[in-house]
Amino acid sequence: MSQSIDVKNLNVYYGDFLAVEDVNVKIDARSVTALIGPSGCGKSTFLRTLNRMHEVIPGAYAEGEVNINGENIYGPGIDPVNVRRRVGMVFQKANPFPTMSIAENVLAGAKLNNKRMSKSEADQLVEESLRGANLWEEVKNRLNKPGGGLSGGQQQRLCIARTIAVKPDIVLMDEPCSALDPISTLAVEELIHELKSQYTIVIVTHNMQQASRVSDKTGFFNIAGTGTPGKLIEFDETTKIFNNPAKEETERYISGKFG
Ligand SMILES: Nc1ncnc2c1ncn2[C@@H]1O[C@H](COP(=O)(O)OP(=O)(O)O)[C@@H](O)[C@H]1O
Ligand SMILES: [Mg+2]
Repeated sequence: MSQSIDVKNLNVYYGDFLAVEDVNVKIDARSVTALIGPSGCGKSTFLRTLNRMHEVIPGAYAEGEVNINGENIYGPGIDPVNVRRRVGMVFQKANPFPTMSIAENVLAGAKLNNKRMSKSEADQLVEESLRGANLWEEVKNRLNKPGGGLSGGQQQRLCIARTIAVKPDIVLMDEPCSALDPISTLAVEELIHELKSQYTIVIVTHNMQQASRVSDKTGFFNIAGTGTPGKLIEFDETTKIFNNPAKEETERYISGKFG
């Protein structure tokens, strides 16, 4: 079930270094949110706080609230492993297990959560997840072949299939197309558009055309200079951000004056 995200007063640290300062943002369920901004402004850092992946780096922590459907994932008694099951993540570089079969790759995360899955349940989950990732027709006759044999674009869709096989509520994507050719990029963008009916999606992209094609809302992050924290400068409807942003900083960035 798709869920909303409500971030309040979020500060994100690597040890003493404040990397992202005071983010406040509300993300609707069943929407696609794009995060844009120059390199080093904290987009990836912020994204990883949404499923408690940030804190796996030694010394890294976050202060503030990330409420998912009203529950603060940084609250007492919350199990980060369970948060990561509900909030899945797709990375920049497709990272299938190269020697595992396509089917086993799809099941890799789901099996950690349900060790007693029957063969027919597993087969069904493989098909449903690959269909969901727009990959089924391309791989249905070679499910037992290694995932590493797929093209880059197919591998990225395989990683998306693996992520949705766990049945998350939210899918985070960190520059998922930056290593893909234009055709594969379009395939993944179409997929993002379809997934939105079932999931809340937050995608970091350095490609502004992509942000305007795939997202409903866009957040612009920026930094004042090296060593200063990244900030969410503006968050609004994507059409507003790209056509009539409220802040001059946003205007300068989207018109290519820096970054
Ligand atoms: N593992 C890390 N340890 C320390 N600092 C980091 C680490 N990862 C990123 N940073 C710093 O946090 C800031 C934001 O980085 P990042 O989130 O990767 O930016 P973006 O994704 O917008 O390019 C940068 O100053 C970067 O050097
Ligand atoms: Mg990044």
